[in-house]
Amino acid sequence: MAATRAGTAPVVALHFGDGVLHAIDQTELPWRERQLELRTAAEVADAIKRLAIRGAPLIGVAAAYGVALELARDPAPTSLSRAAETLRTARPTAVNLSAAVDRVERAVQAVGESDAGDAALTEARAIEAEEQAASAAIATHGAELLAGARRILTHCNTGALAAPGRGTALAVIAELAARGSLDAAIATESRPLLQGARLTVYELSRLGIPHELVVDSAAPGLIAAGAVDAVIVGCDRVAANGDVANKVGTYGLALAARAAAIPFVVAGPTSTIDLATPTGAEITIEERDPDEVRLIAGRSLTLPGTPTRNPAFDVTPAELVSALVTEDGVLRPPLASGR
Ligand code: MRU
Repeated sequence: MAATRAGTAPVVALHFGDGVLHAIDQTELPWRERQLELRTAAEVADAIKRLAIRGAPLIGVAAAYGVALELARDPAPTSLSRAAETLRTARPTAVNLSAAVDRVERAVQAVGESDAGDAALTEARAIEAEEQAASAAIATHGAELLAGARRILTHCNTGALAAPGRGTALAVIAELAARGSLDAAIATESRPLLQGARLTVYELSRLGIPHELVVDSAAPGLIAAGAVDAVIVGCDRVAANGDVANKVGTYGLALAARAAAIPFVVAGPTSTIDLATPTGAEITIEERDPDEVRLIAGRSLTLPGTPTRNPAFDVTPAELVSALVTEDGVLRPPLASGR
């Protein structure tokens, strides 16, 4: 039975005001909505590393503001290069992070030192506004594409906590719910950090969208049994050939969707497409702390010191992707010949 709760406005994951970047600490959701106040590039980078701020478009926007925060304190070129490096290397997989930092860096380099802080802030605000507009367009294009799908499965968290505006894949689900054509969203837990169980359920609940939570390993069986009409996920980097890096577990969902002949749709802004990376094989997959797998809420799930792999993402080949929904419309992979 799908769970619902009275709807409220979408959550606002971060906002810049009074010279401070305010951000919800997503590691504490859904239990507590605690606001962080970030004042330096190092503080923003730390929040990104520990996933207090997460989701490809959102970390790009946060990093852009991180550069602006630093230049407001010290507008010297050395301050710019130090801040840019600290933020660019906070996480490796989502291209939005390095792309946003590079963009702010170029905007600052085009003006004199006295205008550096203003130029950085203007560029950060522009990136945020573009991502907000992209989110709205993705919701519309995606809802038109999936108009006939009543039960939609999604992975990780791709809503307002992951991207400015309403998010990406979850924005499509929210739009279908608003249009009255969705029976239920099915959210995977998204082990090990439970972005689905903690964040997607939190957002769906706030929005009053009917939903069910499943363990990751239940998803392929439910797809095979005909309980899912379509799968929609976000993306962290789309290579030039259309291969998609996204939260670990995405590839298995794509295989299950292909076997069941249902659409496997990826939603993301064009800022997540990286034409400089030819194929998924060249995408760096972040390996995170093994204790994220060994522990849950600080308690051990296994024997201490158990050898563990913890890749945070995987790559889905373009041929398994039915459609890529961007703000420019629906693209059909492969995007270009990357090989
Ligand atoms: O490790 P996370 O939580 O940052 O991973 C996020 C994802 O994999 C999302 O699917 C992706 O960033 C798209 S967000 C709109």
